[in-house]
Amino acid sequence: MDEQGSVAGMVLSMTDVGFAYPGEGEVLHGVDLELGAGECVAIVGESGSGKSTLLHLAAGLEPADAGTVRLAGQALAGLDEAARTRLRRAQVGIVFQSFHLIPTLTALENVMLPLELATDLDAALRRERAAAQLAAVGLGDKAGREPEQLSGGEQQRVAIARALVHRPTLILADEPTGNLDSRTGEEVFALLLEQVRATGCALLLVTHSDDLAGRLDRVLRMQDGHLQDRAAETPAT
Ligand SMILES: Nc1ncnc2c1ncn2[C@@H]1O[C@H](COP(=O)(O)OP(=O)(O)O)[C@@H](O)[C@H]1O
Ligand SMILES: [Mg+2]
Repeated sequence: MDEQGSVAGMVLSMTDVGFAYPGEGEVLHGVDLELGAGECVAIVGESGSGKSTLLHLAAGLEPADAGTVRLAGQALAGLDEAARTRLRRAQVGIVFQSFHLIPTLTALENVMLPLELATDLDAALRRERAAAQLAAVGLGDKAGREPEQLSGGEQQRVAIARALVHRPTLILADEPTGNLDSRTGEEVFALLLEQVRATGCALLLVTHSDDLAGRLDRVLRMQDGHLQDRAAETPAT
C-alpha cells in the first residue's frame, strides 16, 4: 500500500512523534501509532510514562514537537488552533477519569453540548438526539438531573453519551474507570465498549487493568515515553 493509501484509511496516525512540556525534558520519544476505523486499542503503562500526554496530542490539544500526527487524515501541524479545535469537535469524543461534566447543566444539557459545538442541528433536534443517546446508556429517566445528583458510575455514563452523541470517528478515554469501584468500573467499561462497537467509531483507551485492556483488539505499552506493541516485548520462553 502506498503512503497516501495507508494514511487515508486511518482514524489516527502518529509517526515518530516527540513531545516535551515547555522547559522540561522530552516526555514522548519516536511514538508510532496507527488506528484504523472502528479499531479498539488499549494503552497500558506506569504512571508518568506519557499515556495522557499521548492522548492530548492525539486530540490536537497540544501540538507535537517532532514527527507527524494525523487525525481523520488531516495533518495537525498544518492547522492553526481554531482549525484544530474544529477538527477535534467534529471527529473526537473524550472520556476523562474524573467525568468532567459541567456541574450547572443537567445530564441532558451536558450531552447536547457537542451537538451545539459540532453541528448545525436546531435546538429541538439536538434535544431529541441527546435524549436518545442518554437512553442508550440507560439514563433516559435521569436526563433532568445535575451531575451532583448522580452516582459516579452514572456521571461517567453521561460522559460516554456526551462523547458519542455527535458520532465522532474516535473516542479517547483516559482511565475512564479509574475513579469507580471495580464492579461499577466493569459495567461502565462494558457499556463504553458496547456503545463504541454499536456506533463503529475507533477507541483509544488508557487503563491500568490488564483484564480490561485484554478485551480490546490490541494492547500497546507505554514505557518512559516509548510506545510498543505488548506482544513484541513478551520474552520468548
Ligand atoms: N502540564 C505538564 N507540564 C509539565 N510536565 C508534565 C505536564 N503533564 C505531565 N507532565 C509530565 O510528563 C510525564 C508524563 O505524564 P503523563 O502523560 O500525565 O503520564 P501518564 O498519563 O502515563 O501518567 C510525567 O513525567 C509528568 O510529570
Ligand atoms: Mg495519565
